[in-house]
Amino acid sequence: MTMAAVETIAALRQRLDEARHRQARIGFVPTMGALHEGHARLIARARSECDRVVASIFVNPLQFDRPDDLARYPRTLADDLALCESLGVDDVFVPAAAEMYPSTPQCTVEVGELADHLCGKYRPGHFRGVATVVLKLLQIVQPHAAYFGEKDAQQLAIVRRLVTDFSVPVAIVGVPTVREPDGLAMSSRNRRLDPCERKLATALFRALSAAAEAIRAGQTDAAEVKRLAQATVPPPSKGDAAASPASPTLRIEYLEVVDPDTMQPVAQIEGPVIVAGALWVGSTRLIDNIRV
Ligand code: PAF
Repeated sequence: MTMAAVETIAALRQRLDEARHRQARIGFVPTMGALHEGHARLIARARSECDRVVASIFVNPLQFDRPDDLARYPRTLADDLALCESLGVDDVFVPAAAEMYPSTPQCTVEVGELADHLCGKYRPGHFRGVATVVLKLLQIVQPHAAYFGEKDAQQLAIVRRLVTDFSVPVAIVGVPTVREPDGLAMSSRNRRLDPCERKLATALFRALSAAAEAIRAGQTDAAEVKRLAQATVPPPSKGDAAASPASPTLRIEYLEVVDPDTMQPVAQIEGPVIVAGALWVGSTRLIDNIRV
């Protein structure tokens, strides 16, 4: 079928009601646009498992803790729509902010301990915004399955819990992170990196890989794992090229070893864990994780 870009909740509901009437299995890929190969995998997975594939492109203001980050978030709608069409998406929901939030929402989703660490600790209100918009999008689309990237491990854990806590009848499918050949996790924010920053950005994957290697080799002390990982990222210092104004600085925001279900830091590694990190490369913040 020909892909449609749909701007209103009412029009999307009408199209999907017809599909539901025909017993179509609906797969949903929520995005904020600036689509890349990681999103393409989510869409391909949805396409392979569902009759009808819906994507959304909405830069959700509620989940940005810094106005400059919202303003600078890459917007590439024409390219995104072309990619969706080439991947066989049936409906792309592209609401304006006023369609999603005609007035300031009075009811939002408060996330508990799952949001206490990692990104939740450094981006106040971020997961309230994510959980609120994801719940709203799930209500609008009412998909049978929704697809999320494992790169955002804390988001995925929160979305899984969100649908349990609110009894939303949808299967949440996590899809593995897609990486560039040098290991950098694909992200819409990578577009903001200049060539020099792009080279330095691999530091995060190197640090996480060092941590994962130490754990696989038998290290069970999380503090030691973090120390080893941190040591792979040289701190910018006076005279260091990375500290000069001409060259971007690298700053680890967090490096943590957490339980994959609760997202709480662990001191002793006794079972599966996620090693997660956030790295500032100049003015761009990147996140990544490895499950061990
Ligand atoms: O991962 C994202 O792109 C966003 O957080 C999401 C899930 C589309 C909600 O705005």
